[in-house]
Amino acid sequence: MQITVVDMAPSDAEAVSRLADTLIGPGYYPPEEVVDALERSTLGGVVCSHVAIARDDGRMVGFRFAMPPGRWRHGRGSRLSPQLWPVDLGDCGYFQSSYVAFEARGHGVGPQMAAAAEAALRSLGARAIVTHSWKESPDNSSFRYLTRLGFTAVTEYPGYWSEVDYVCWLDGKPCQCTAIEMIKVLVPG
Ligand SMILES: CC(C)(COP(=O)(O)OP(=O)(O)OC[C@H]1O[C@@H](n2cnc3c(N)ncnc32)[C@H](O)[C@@H]1OP(=O)(O)O)[C@@H](O)C(=O)NCCC(=O)NCCS
Repeated sequence: MQITVVDMAPSDAEAVSRLADTLIGPGYYPPEEVVDALERSTLGGVVCSHVAIARDDGRMVGFRFAMPPGRWRHGRGSRLSPQLWPVDLGDCGYFQSSYVAFEARGHGVGPQMAAAAEAALRSLGARAIVTHSWKESPDNSSFRYLTRLGFTAVTEYPGYWSEVDYVCWLDGKPCQCTAIEMIKVLVPG
């Protein structure tokens, strides 16, 4: 599958929201949440969030949100353990939600979107990236994907996403899934 990774734009909000309803669960990313997350992922004209577009028919097959240092305080859940990290919270970017449509998986779409986000975060001075891996993801795809990208586990939070007002495809509402907090150091200090 041939895809192009481009900066996310406000006009993508409806399509991202629809894809998220299908892949994460209804209500996880209402269009207004997409617009808010996109605003927080943009600094000095640099957009750190991206979408993947299929070249054959132009449909959206993936999205990834990323927030630069200083533009986030926690993920969709509120728990965070910066005392366990080797880099200060204020120097860390955040990877929030990366999803690829089922039919597009296994073609490197996720890694391409991650590379674009990492490059944007590096250009804004991030010294590390923090993320929350979805422990119950099918075939452990989330943890394997993030480990391959260079992330290492720090701690775990059962029921991390229970604070989010959405219906999880795995366990309904509230979501019972566990988050694995992970970090990738870009600039050791
Ligand atoms: C994790 C995810 C973003 C990876 O994206 P991707 O574009 O499929 O990544 P890759 O192309 O590198 O493939 C990842 C793995 O899926 C395998 N794969 C191949 N075909 C596949 C298919 N049809 N369906 C699912 N996985 C497939 C690949 O071989 C690769 O296996 P490996 O880990 O043993 O090397 C994607 O699987 C996804 O959206 N998962 C659900 C959400 C999720 O867990 N997000 C992670 C952060 S919260």
